[in-house]
Amino acid sequence: MTTKIAVIGGTGMNQWPGLEIERRIELTTPYGAPSAPLLEGRVYGTRAIFLARHGEGHKLPPHAINYRANLWALREAGVQSIVAIAAVGAIAPWFEPGAVAVPQDIVDYTWGREHTYSDGREGSGLEHVEFTEPYSERLRQALIEAAGRAGVAMGAGIHGVTQGPRLESSAEIRRMQRDGCDMVGMTGMPEAALARELKLDYACLAVSVNWAAGVMGLGDIHAEIHQSIETGMGRVRAVLAESLPR
Ligand code: HPA
Repeated sequence: MTTKIAVIGGTGMNQWPGLEIERRIELTTPYGAPSAPLLEGRVYGTRAIFLARHGEGHKLPPHAINYRANLWALREAGVQSIVAIAAVGAIAPWFEPGAVAVPQDIVDYTWGREHTYSDGREGSGLEHVEFTEPYSERLRQALIEAAGRAGVAMGAGIHGVTQGPRLESSAEIRRMQRDGCDMVGMTGMPEAALARELKLDYACLAVSVNWAAGVMGLGDIHAEIHQSIETGMGRVRAVLAESLPR
């Protein structure tokens, strides 16, 4: 049977504790090697694949991740649906650290990343993919229903994606607030757009791990992350467990 579901794990989820690993898939793609071998196995009887976005030792910074190779490799492995886990800073007051959300839209502030397969290389073609709704609504609804079964409150909101690896200035966060962003992360793009180019279903499970710069005055962001990341990732694992077909 082909594997259909993959989880891309980020900061705070560099492995998937529920996954019984049966196979490490080492692939290279026309775009180079993915961040790590794809780990294929079973979670509660369902076949699934896990990919550590920042690499097995969590060393790759957001701008150095080979997003094109990651998405290409997942498709090569037969994946159709991807749940991307992202630790984010909260801009909206409702998104307190430890809470989770399935964002419904994106604003992209990244630059200089290899962000498309339509790159002008011979044979690459030119396609202006639609991105009006950047996430798969089907997958979002499945995650929202799973959260309901798991008893986890689930927000939505707009996901702003910055270049990193530094955190933002408070003026940058105020600009993002004016742009309508509810949360800020560093890895949501070009991942979502590449998934769309490959016609993969893609949704993001965002975990608030800190208040974004200046939102609640001058806080210690790293201390906040340390305090909230385990609670948030525990909720992510509960939602994932409920979202898999049994
Ligand atoms: N900014 C950007 N990315 C992040 C943050 C943040 O405050 N927290 C976690 N990822």
